[in-house]
Formats: sequence, structure tokens, C-alpha cells
Amino acid sequence: MAYSWFKAFHIIGFVVWFAGLFYLVRLFIYHAEANQEPEPARTILKNQYQIMEKRLYNIITTPGMLVTVAMAIGLLSTEPEVLKEGWLHIKLLFVALLIGYHYYCSRLMKKLAADECRWSGQQLRALNEAPTVMLLVIVLLAVFKNNLPTDITVWIIFGTVILMAVSIQLYAKKRRQDKEKLTAQIGQVAQEQS
Ligand code: HEM
Repeated sequence: MAYSWFKAFHIIGFVVWFAGLFYLVRLFIYHAEANQEPEPARTILKNQYQIMEKRLYNIITTPGMLVTVAMAIGLLSTEPEVLKEGWLHIKLLFVALLIGYHYYCSRLMKKLAADECRWSGQQLRALNEAPTVMLLVIVLLAVFKNNLPTDITVWIIFGTVILMAVSIQLYAKKRRQDKEKLTAQIGQVAQEQS
């Protein structure tokens, strides 16, 4: 019974953790792109994003990580023989990467606050796809365990990465075209008025 409780809260924990991680880097994108706005909008937006990022990180994302890890420890102490299983070792490797990503996000947050972050909006969009790959691998390992079909998994990951890269490029193209259209419209209005 204790095992099922730990597992239920383990799942709740990582849902919260990932929601926080995905939204956090989305806020970083808006924060970095606020630099393109004129004053005073730039300062107002950057201050607002800084507050939102700090609260999201401290109140949602880090507690989500702590609940996930605490419940995982509960699961392992209830059934310690799971520790010998190969799938868990690989899963732990990806969890370690995920924890590294979590703390890297806190570094980026501090750099953004200090106006020292050199990542562009597009680079941050690409970074925001990294946890998708970790989520895929970790959940597939947790569900299939030692029976995970590696060939299908590799294709799923490869397909996901390609899909994400194409969507980022298409979105960047659309934003460029929208900006050009807007500049042309502004030019036309200015010409009509003069
Ligand atoms: C802190 C490191 C972690 C450890 C030591 C750990 C360990 C475990 C263990 C022992 C189970 C029970 C397996 C079973 O009885 O079926 C489990 C279940 C599960 N874990 Fe983790 N886990 C960790 C992190 C994560 C993370 C970060 C995610 C999500 C990205 C995750 C997703 C899952 C899922 C979906 C299950 C349920 C699998 C099922 O019932 O079929 N785990 N985990």
C-alpha cells in the first residue's frame, strides 16, 4: 500500500516539476525578447518577468523536484531490490541530467536578472526542448523497464528532435515575415500621412 502512495505522489511530483521547467524557460524567452521593446516597456516587462521567474522556480519547480526525489526514495526504501535493475540505472542517469538542467535554469535566471544573459530567444526556444527528450526517455524507461524496445525508442527520440527543430525554424520564419509585414504597413501609413 505504501508503495502505491509513494508512486502516486512521485507521479504528481514530476508533473509539477516539468510544468515548472517548461514554463520557466518560456518566461526566459519573453524576458530575453523584452530587450527588443522600447523604453519604458522594456524595464517594466523585464522586472515583471524577473518576479514571475523567481516565484515559479521557488514555489513550483523546486518543490516539484523535491517531492519527486523524496517519493522516489520512499519507493526504493519500500522495495530496495529495484535498485539492482538496469532500467533504473539508466533512468537515474537521465534524472541526474534533468537535475543539472534544473540548476542550470537557476543560473540563467540570475544572469537574466543581472542583464548578463547572452542567449537569444531562438536559442532559449531550443533549450526549452531539452527536457522533452529527458521526459520521453525517463517515462518510457519507468513504464517498459528492462523490456524497453531500444530501436523504436531511438526512432521516437530522433523523430521528436527533428520535429522540434523544424517547428522552431518555421516559427522563426513566421515571426520574421510578420515583423517585415508590420514594418511595411507602418511605412505605408507614414507615407499616406505625409
Ligand atoms: C529521483 C530519481 C528517481 C528515482 C530513483 C525513481 C524511481 C522510481 C521507481 C522505483 C518507480 C517504481 C517502479 C514500479 O514499481 O513500477 C518509479 C516509477 C515511476 N517513475 Fe520514477 N524515479 C525517479 C525520477 C523520476 C522522474 C524525474 C520521472 C519523470 C520524468 C519519473 C517517472 C516515473 C513514472 C511515470 C513511474 C511509474 C511507472 C509505472 O508505474 O509504470 N521518475 N520511479
